[in-house]
Amino acid sequence: MTFKKNMLCIGAGYVGGPTMAMIAYKCPQYKVTVVDINPARIAEWNSDDLPIYEPGLDKVVKATRGRNLFFSTEIEHGIKEAEIIFVSVNTPIKTFGAGAGMAADLQYWEKTARQILKYSESSKIIVEKSTFPVRTAFAMERIFSSTENDIHFDVLSNPEFLAEGTAIKDLEEPDRVLIGSRETPSGLKARDELVEIYASWVPKKRIITSNIWSSELSKLVANAFLAQRISSINSFTALCEKTEADITEVARATGMDSRLGNKFLNSSVGWGGSCFKKDILNLVYLCRNYNLSKEADYWEGVVRINEYQKERFVLNILSAMFNTLASKKICLFGFAFKANTGDTRESPAIFISKRLLDEKAELVITDPKALDNAMTDLDGIDGKISYIEDPYEASDGCDAIAVMTEWEIYKSLDFEKIYRSMVKPAFIFDGRNILDHKRLFDIGFNVFPIGKPPLTHY
Ligand code: UDX
Ligand code: UDX
Repeated sequence: MTFKKNMLCIGAGYVGGPTMAMIAYKCPQYKVTVVDINPARIAEWNSDDLPIYEPGLDKVVKATRGRNLFFSTEIEHGIKEAEIIFVSVNTPIKTFGAGAGMAADLQYWEKTARQILKYSESSKIIVEKSTFPVRTAFAMERIFSSTENDIHFDVLSNPEFLAEGTAIKDLEEPDRVLIGSRETPSGLKARDELVEIYASWVPKKRIITSNIWSSELSKLVANAFLAQRISSINSFTALCEKTEADITEVARATGMDSRLGNKFLNSSVGWGGSCFKKDILNLVYLCRNYNLSKEADYWEGVVRINEYQKERFVLNILSAMFNTLASKKICLFGFAFKANTGDTRESPAIFISKRLLDEKAELVITDPKALDNAMTDLDGIDGKISYIEDPYEASDGCDAIAVMTEWEIYKSLDFEKIYRSMVKPAFIFDGRNILDHKRLFDIGFNVFPIGKPPLTHY
C-alpha cells in the first residue's frame, strides 16, 4: 500500500498515543508511525492490553493498527521515512540545578531534536506537540540549523488540549486546534499542510493559526486559567465550612452567569494531573526570568492554594477523628487524579496518603484502574498499606472512607452494607462531593463534604 505521506510521532505517551491514533483513524491516506525509546511501552501498544486506559481508545487503535498506524522502536528508520514529525516526549519539572522544582526539563526534547537532525536525509516539518516553554521553537530551530546541508526544517507549534478520561472525544471534536508557525513563506506553507490534515475531520472555523510564540504561550495560559478556576472555587470551601454556606450552591449561582459559565467549578480535594502544576510553575519560572515578579507571584498563588487544599483535607480528617489517626484504618476511594483514567501523576491521593501515613494511619486503597500506579507511587514509603480493587472488601473493618476520585461506581454502592462492616463511629470524607451526604448521615455515618457543613452524630 502506498501512502500520501509518512508521519512520525516521537513519544508514545498519554498525548502521543491517542493523538496519533486519531489522526490515523481520520486520515487513512497517511501512514502514521509512533516510536518510543521504551520498548516495553511499544510492546504494550502492539498488544491487546494498551499501556493507558482511555475510554474509546481501544476501538480507534483496533481500527487502525496495522492498517496505517504502526508502533515501533525504530526511531532512526522512522525519522528517515517521515515528512512530518510530531514531538511528544515528556517535559517534566526539572529536579536538579538551576530552576529545579520549577523550570521544564528540556533534556528529552533536545535529545530528540538532535536525533532528528542526525538521521534526516530530507527536509521535514517538525511539530511541537508536547507543552514547551515559550520560545522553545527558537532553540529547536537553532539546533536544526547547526549543520551545513540542504535539509530544511520548519518548526510548528501545535499544542494538545485533550484532557485524560475524555481524550478520544476531545480529539474527535476539539473546541479548537491551534497551529503556530513562523510567518515566512515556508513556515506558512508548513502550517497549511498541518491545517489540511486536521481539516479531514475538524471544521475549518475551529482550526486557528497564530504566530509560533502565541501558540506556545496559549497552551500554558489555557492550563493556568483552568487550574486557577478550580483553585478559585476551592479557595472558598473553607469559608463555606465555617459559615454554613454550601459550595455547590455557590458554584451553581456563580456559574449561571453566562460570562463565567458553569464548567470547571467542582470543588475538590485539589487538582492533580501531569500538566497543571508543571505548566504553571513553568510559567512562573519564565516570568521570574523576565523579572516579572508580580505576575510570577500571582500565578504561583494558584499552585499554593492547591497545596493548601490537600493539607486542609488531611487536617480536617485529623480533627474530625479526635486528633489522632494512629492505627486507624482509612480507606481511600480512588487514587487516580481524576475519573476514567488510571493515571496518578500528581494525584492529590499521593500527597494525602503520605500525610495520613505520617499520622500513623493504616491505608487501604481501592481504585478500578489505578492500583498498579498507586503501588508504584507509594513504593518504599513507611507504613501499612493494602491495595484492594473491590470497594466493599476494601472498606471492611475501616474507621473512615476518604473519596479521592470521582469514579461513577462510588455513587451507587450499597452504603448500608459498607456501614455495617466498618468500625463505629464511621466517617466519610467526600473529597469530591459526589455522594448523597444526607442519606449517608441517615445511615449513621459522620459525613464531611468539601465546602459544606459536616453532618455529624456527636
Ligand atoms: C505529554 C507532553 O508530551 C507533555 O509535554 C505535556 O505537557 C504532558 O503530556 P505525556 O504524553 O503525558 O506527556 O507523557 P508520557 O506519557 O510520559 O509520554 C512521553 C513518552 O515519550 C514516554 O513514553 C517516553 O518513553 C517517551 N520518550 C521520552 C521518548 O520516546 N524519547 C525521549 O527521549 C524521552
Ligand atoms: C488538563 C487540561 O484540561 C487539558 O486541556 C490539557 O491538555 C492537559 O491538562 P487533565 O489534567 O487531563 O487536562 O484533566 P482535567 O480535566 O483538566 O483535570 C485536572 C484536575 O483538575 C483533575 O485532578 C480534576 O479532578 C481536577 N478538577 C477538574 C477539579 O478538581 N474540579 C473541576 O471542576 C475540574
